[in-house]
Amino acid sequence: MGKIIAVANQKGGVGKSTTVINLAAFLGSRDKTVLCIDIDPQGNLTTGLGIKKKSVEVSSYDILVGRARIQDAIIETDFKNLHIIPATENLAGAEVELLNMENRVNRLKMQVLSLRESYDYIFIDCPPALGTLTINALVAADSIIIPMLAEFFALEGLSQLTNTIKIVKSNYNPGLDIEGILFTMFDSRLNIANDVVAEVDKHFPGKVFETKIPRNVRISEAPSHGKPIMYYDKSAKGADSYTLLGLEMLGEPLELPEKKKRNIFSFKKKKKK
Ligand SMILES: Nc1ncnc2c1ncn2[C@@H]1O[C@H](COP(=O)(O)OP(=O)(O)OP(=O)(O)O)[C@@H](O)[C@H]1O
Ligand SMILES: [Mg+2]
Repeated sequence: MGKIIAVANQKGGVGKSTTVINLAAFLGSRDKTVLCIDIDPQGNLTTGLGIKKKSVEVSSYDILVGRARIQDAIIETDFKNLHIIPATENLAGAEVELLNMENRVNRLKMQVLSLRESYDYIFIDCPPALGTLTINALVAADSIIIPMLAEFFALEGLSQLTNTIKIVKSNYNPGLDIEGILFTMFDSRLNIANDVVAEVDKHFPGKVFETKIPRNVRISEAPSHGKPIMYYDKSAKGADSYTLLGLEMLGEPLELPEKKKRNIFSFKKKKKK
């Protein structure tokens, strides 16, 4: 039975879509069957996986407002074992349309559960807001991955998000678990970055992914070619970091050479005063 994972953070530009694209591609390359669902009206996941929005006939919008069956929205990508349900711009209106609908926070769940048997992993890429779309993802999901930047304000955002998770858990989805908190665009040379990791680790023991995703220009170039990093530049540091994240999630041994691992894991432990 497949696992449904929402990738969410109401803060914009923290690497949600990038993480879905690259983690999904890695798992697909490891013979897992993966579906990515784009529920962000910006459609970055859709574009980043090489789908032209103009060519989309059925999108996540149609699923949420009940105009189509979820099976009819699935598109195969060019990447191994990787399917997508795309988003188009009309999704921007869904937030308002859903307000007047019955079961407005259960709409994604009602449809997505029928696909659980068909995939090993289903990732949902959320928009940068804690509105009805993100709540739909949290209600449907088994767990949540929270990408975040290691900067001071990120801590405030995290407490807002964990409050929302608590509300969703107590009202709709008691089983919702935090899969992991993922530091992205990480720079281990910055003291603040290491301080923030230590602080988050203290509040969420065992929940911070050991793998940190470094800032890497190849990661930011890949979406403009409609490709995950491992298909765009396999040798990039960014590709290695998402490989390590995938292996960490699968609980498999990290098989990169020591030197490369050090490169990615090289965040300093806080010195004792
Ligand atoms: N590790 C990285 N190194 C360099 N650039 C990155 C990295 N991760 C993401 N980016 C770039 O940062 C920007 C924001 O990333 P992304 O779109 O994945 O964030 P997001 O959280 O999905 O944003 P939004 O909230 O708008 O949906 C993009 O231009 C992306 O290419
Ligand atoms: Mg995004």
